[in-house]
Amino acid sequence: MHINEIAARADCPYDSAKLASCLRILAQHYIFKEVKENYFAHTRFSMTLRDENRVDFIRTSTQLAKIGPYFYEAMKRYPGSSNPRQSTFAVGTGIDGRESAFEWMLRNPEYHRRFSNGMEGTSRLAMANLQTVYPWRDLGPSVLVDIGGGKGHISMEIAKIAPQLRFIVQDTPAIVASATGIQLPEDLRGRIQFQIHDFWTVQPRRADVYLFRLIFHSWADEKVVRLIRNVLPHLRTGENGMGGRILVAESIIEAEKARPPSLMEQATINMMMMTIHNSSERTFGQYKALFERADSRFRVRQYGSGGPLASEILEAWLEE
Ligand SMILES: C[S@@+](CC[C@H](N)C(=O)[O-])C[C@H]1O[C@@H](n2cnc3c(N)ncnc32)[C@H](O)[C@@H]1O
Repeated sequence: MHINEIAARADCPYDSAKLASCLRILAQHYIFKEVKENYFAHTRFSMTLRDENRVDFIRTSTQLAKIGPYFYEAMKRYPGSSNPRQSTFAVGTGIDGRESAFEWMLRNPEYHRRFSNGMEGTSRLAMANLQTVYPWRDLGPSVLVDIGGGKGHISMEIAKIAPQLRFIVQDTPAIVASATGIQLPEDLRGRIQFQIHDFWTVQPRRADVYLFRLIFHSWADEKVVRLIRNVLPHLRTGENGMGGRILVAESIIEAEKARPPSLMEQATINMMMMTIHNSSERTFGQYKALFERADSRFRVRQYGSGGPLASEILEAWLEE
């Protein structure tokens, strides 16, 4: 499509030359391509921007773009800190010492809504990997609790390929309120329930499997140990997870395998975690150590490697 037509449709008809400059930069990142001078076409990546939820994730970045310059200031003000109230986000937003990014988000419902939609949009590219990386069907007629599961987008995808599994998706009151309005496809009704639960308190539901996806990477080590211990009362010892198991879906750092730019997404998200929450992505060894700190009987193994956003799975269970 010619840039003049794109500019007209984007409601900036007098600025088509400026718009072309933007699209040329994006084309260098495989988002749109210039097929002939001033004619642009979609690529696989730019096509994903037609998804409103994915765009919502990008909209949340407007806040992140503002905080970047405060990175050095935050390090000077709070050297060596892993406290989320002392992050670059907190310093750049002027809430440092009082609020973390998550606490700020809870006070800003529109941002929280976009973030939650954005998690679904940005996770979509990882779904195919997530479905195949772990033998979900082998869990049989089990109950899986999706902790901090947002509006249930991950549970819904797993449900498609593991028809015997049932799900309880837990999140904060605002997210559960918006999720309960969603019309579930007929085959999922009765298999997915939503529940308000604060993951800093002890898990109220007994289940076979507890899933944490994109939760641990937002928190410092001692907080992750606390999240694990909040589920511990429901786990018994048993070979290979027969007494219950925890699944963690994250991007697991394997630096020695990386060749540029294969770790680009992981390195970028690691920077985001560091600046937003004062946390980071971890290696298998670091996660294993956290489980063993929570309880020395934990065994941990990894499924998958080098996939898209948070589609590696760690499986942890208790064994004598
Ligand atoms: C990064 S998102 C991950 C969402 C989803 N698990 C995924 O993989 O796309 C973190 C989720 O944790 C939720 N959350 C934050 N604090 C929470 C709390 N104290 N208790 C329960 N959920 C919480 C957020 O509302 C959000 O849905």
